[in-house]
Amino acid sequence: MTGMPPGGAVSSPGAFLWYNQGMFVRVMSYFFIITILLEGISFGDVINLPAPKSRGKVTVEEAVQGRRSYREFHPNELNQEQISQLLWSGQGITDNDFDLRAAPSAGALFPLQLLLSKKDGLYRYVPQGHKLLKMSGEDKRPSLVRAALGQKFLGDAPCVVVITALFDKSRSKYGMRGDRYAFMEAGHAAENICLQAVALGLGSVVVGSFWDNAIAAALELPAGETPVYMIPVGYIKQ
Ligand SMILES: Cc1cc2nc3c(=O)[nH]c(=O)nc-3n(C[C@H](O)[C@H](O)[C@H](O)COP(=O)(O)O)c2cc1C
Repeated sequence: MTGMPPGGAVSSPGAFLWYNQGMFVRVMSYFFIITILLEGISFGDVINLPAPKSRGKVTVEEAVQGRRSYREFHPNELNQEQISQLLWSGQGITDNDFDLRAAPSAGALFPLQLLLSKKDGLYRYVPQGHKLLKMSGEDKRPSLVRAALGQKFLGDAPCVVVITALFDKSRSKYGMRGDRYAFMEAGHAAENICLQAVALGLGSVVVGSFWDNAIAAALELPAGETPVYMIPVGYIKQ
C-alpha cells in the first residue's frame, strides 16, 4: 500500500516511511545506481577487478632482463588495472575449462592464497571471478615492517602482496612433501608477479625474512594458513 493514510496525517517516522514507500524505493534505487556508477562494479566488501590483459608492451625476455630487487618506492598508489595484472599473474585463472592458473601447481591443488596489503586495508584475492574481498580497513603495512625485522620498504611500497599457503591442501595428496611443493609454487607465483611488475614499469622485491607468527597475527590469518613470501610493489624511486 502506498500513498497517504486516510485523512492525510502521518504520526511517526515509521508511518511516514510506510505510507511513502514508493518514493523510498525510488530514492534507494537511485542511490544504488549512483553508487555503482561512482564506484565501478563494486558491492560493499567485494571489488570486481578489471579484466587482465594478456598482451603488453614488454617481451618476456625484456622482463627477465629488467627484473631487479628494488627497495625504494614512491608512495603513489597503484591503480586497479595494475593491481589486476599483478594478482592475475600470480594466481589468476588462465584456463576457464579446468580453473587452471597463471602459476603451476602440484596436482592442481592450488594451496596458495594472495593477500594484498594497502594503505586503505587488507584484501584477499579470489581467482574465481578475479575479485578482491576486503578483510580489514586497517593499514597493515607497519605491522608487516615490524614482523619482517624492520624492513622499512614494506611500509613505503603502496602495495604488498603476501603469499600464504594452505599446506593441508597439498598434504592431502603428497603428505609432508606437499609442503615442499607449496614453497615451490610460491616461488613460481612470486616470480610471475615480479616479471609482471617489470612489464608495468614497476619495481618489486621478494621478502622471505619475517616472523611467521607475527605476520599471521597481524593479518589475522585463519588457522592452517601460513605466510610464505611477501612482495612489495610500487613505482621505483631513482
Ligand atoms: C627466498 C628469498 C628470500 C629473500 N628475502 C629477502 C628479504 O627478506 N629482504 C630483502 O631485501 N631481499 C630478499 N630477497 C631478495 C634478494 O636479496 C635478492 O634477490 C638478491 O640480492 C639478488 O638481487 P636481485 O633480486 O636484484 O637479482 C630474497 C630473495 C629470495 C630468493
